[in-house]
Formats: sequence, structure tokens, C-alpha cells
Amino acid sequence: MVYESIPRTVRIILLGEPGVGKTSLILSLVTEEFTEHVPPKAEEITIPADVTPEQVPTNIVDVCLNEQTLEQVAEEIEKAHVICIVFSVDKQETLDKIASYWLPFVRDNCPNDHRKPVILVGNKIDLIDYSIIDNIWDIAEEYPEVDRCIECSAKTLTNVSEMFYNAQKAVLHPIHPIYSIEEQE
Ligand code: GTP
Repeated sequence: MVYESIPRTVRIILLGEPGVGKTSLILSLVTEEFTEHVPPKAEEITIPADVTPEQVPTNIVDVCLNEQTLEQVAEEIEKAHVICIVFSVDKQETLDKIASYWLPFVRDNCPNDHRKPVILVGNKIDLIDYSIIDNIWDIAEEYPEVDRCIECSAKTLTNVSEMFYNAQKAVLHPIHPIYSIEEQE
């Protein structure tokens, strides 16, 4: 049995279909305002320990499938401690892709650690007036690495800092035991 220690930095990666608002969420967090026109991919951002609730330096990594190969995305998944899979609450197909594509892709790229925590992030709640959280329990049941789900809006800044805080917490205060069983022959 191999015990893994709690990391001293937290590396968060944002995945999800194009256009769901990954870059906007990162830039809204950092600038505390919404910008309509964002670059395809945010530069990697380091948030210093003293401005994070958990007092841990936090790196945030954006992914843009138009600018990166799947191999590059896979390398970033391997380096991350926690994976935020973003979907757009007004586009069912972006939610459907989480179970049909993104969660299996994450598993494929965490060979020794299937339990790397995953946060499901429903962005753009400013566009709807109902909650979609009931639609994701089936996914969470099928994929126990789903640590929590959060609805937010990069546009109105609703739950944006909470989303990143939840990602930190998933690493620093995991719900699942943080060990993996070494395969023995
Ligand atoms: P890729 O770079 O293609 O992977 O897209 P992305 O996931 O980084 O999305 P991006 O941040 O570029 O946002 C896509 C579009 O959605 C932009 O027009 C944003 O202004 C818009 N958008 C992002 N977040 C929100 C939100 O919370 N509410 C609304 N209404 N629009 C949003």
C-alpha cells in the first residue's frame, strides 16, 4: 500500500468542451470582473499562499483543445492534483460529454491514481433560472472520484472563488482516503 502525502501546492486544471467558460472563470477569479472577450487559453496562474483560504500556493491551468493536442492535455492531467470539469448549464451536450468523454479520459490518464478528485462545475447559471444539480447525481454515483459539484457564473462572479476553494479543499481535505493500492504480482 502506498500512502500519498498532502501536497504543499495545489495544481488545479480546468477541462471541458470548448466555449463552456473555462478561461472566463479563471480570469473572473483573478480580475474580479467579467470580460466578454478572453484569449483562447489563460496563461498558467499562481495564486500566492497568503491570498488563498487554505494558505497554500495554488496553480491554475487552463486547457484549450483548439490550441493543444490531446497528448499535451493528458500530460497536464497527470501533473494536476484536482480536475475541474466545466460544462455550460444551458447546453445539455456539454454535460453529456462529461460521462461519455471527459471522465473516462481523465481515468485513462491517471494510471496509478484513479481517485484524483474531480469537481463538476456547471457554469453560466446566469442564463437559467433553475438548478441542474439533480442531473448529475447519476454521474457522481458512477464515478466516485467526483468529489463535489458546483454551479457558478463567470459573468456574475457567483460562486467563482468558491469553485476554486472547493477544488483546493478536495486536495487538502479529501473525502476519499488518499491511498492507492500498489498492484502486486
Ligand atoms: P475554449 O477556449 O474554446 O475551450 O472555451 P472556454 O471554455 O475557455 O470558454 P470561454 O471562457 O472562452 O467562454 C466562451 C464564451 O462564453 C464567451 O463568449 C464568454 O463570454 C461566455 N461566458 C463564459 N462564462 C460565462 C458565464 O458565466 N455566463 C455567460 N452568460 N457567458 C459566459
